[in-house]
Amino acid sequence: MNIDLARQNAAQIYSVMAQTIIPRPIAWVLSENANGSFNLAPFSYFAPICSNPPLVMISISKKPDGTLKDTRANIKERKDFVLHIPSREQLEPMNASAATMAAGVSEVEELGLGLTGFEGSRLPRIKDSRVAMACSLYEIKEIGKGPYAMILGRIHHIYITDAAILEQTDEKTRIAPEQLNPIGRLGGPQYAELGRIITLARPE
Ligand SMILES: Cc1cc2nc3c(=O)[nH]c(=O)nc-3n(C[C@H](O)[C@H](O)[C@H](O)COP(=O)(O)O)c2cc1C
Repeated sequence: MNIDLARQNAAQIYSVMAQTIIPRPIAWVLSENANGSFNLAPFSYFAPICSNPPLVMISISKKPDGTLKDTRANIKERKDFVLHIPSREQLEPMNASAATMAAGVSEVEELGLGLTGFEGSRLPRIKDSRVAMACSLYEIKEIGKGPYAMILGRIHHIYITDAAILEQTDEKTRIAPEQLNPIGRLGGPQYAELGRIITLARPE
């Protein structure tokens, strides 16, 4: 099959892209609501952009009523956010946190998730998270005439659960991926666990 995107509407294009660009990592983003409570939502149009400066990108659309999603509005207004990489064990609360809720309603409270202080971060992190990144807004770039905006975030601190640290030297940190046990997004309601891990040296 060869699909001409000029003949597809935005929903059809989303459906094909979301089912072919897989598996996608998920950014589970905690941001601060105007009332001081914490918003939480997952985003899989998410990528690392560069290491110097350390930047990630999440692409956020709008709510069905055309207003900004809470994460986007919060980051625009209050700049800081904490990006978690959800583990397989967090699949259900991560998915539940994607429900559209009114601005100011805290998914953290609704789902009864525990938070803990995050050294180096103004905002807390999810207590049982294995990876959390304290970020601040670097740049927001609206994309074309559509509802999406690219949010570039600068990472300031990275928390990694001690159980996943294999080696820590001045030169490198070696991390056990199976201890992070990340969940990946496929199309629609499908997710993937980490499969068999393959080690393959890069050519010179
Ligand atoms: C796994 C997963 C990935 C998602 N990825 C995105 C995404 O990349 N961009 C986006 O705008 N919405 C994405 N969504 C939908 C948002 O999570 C959803 O609209 C959420 O209600 C936004 O919450 P907020 O208004 O509190 O920011 C995703 C949902 C799920 C379950």
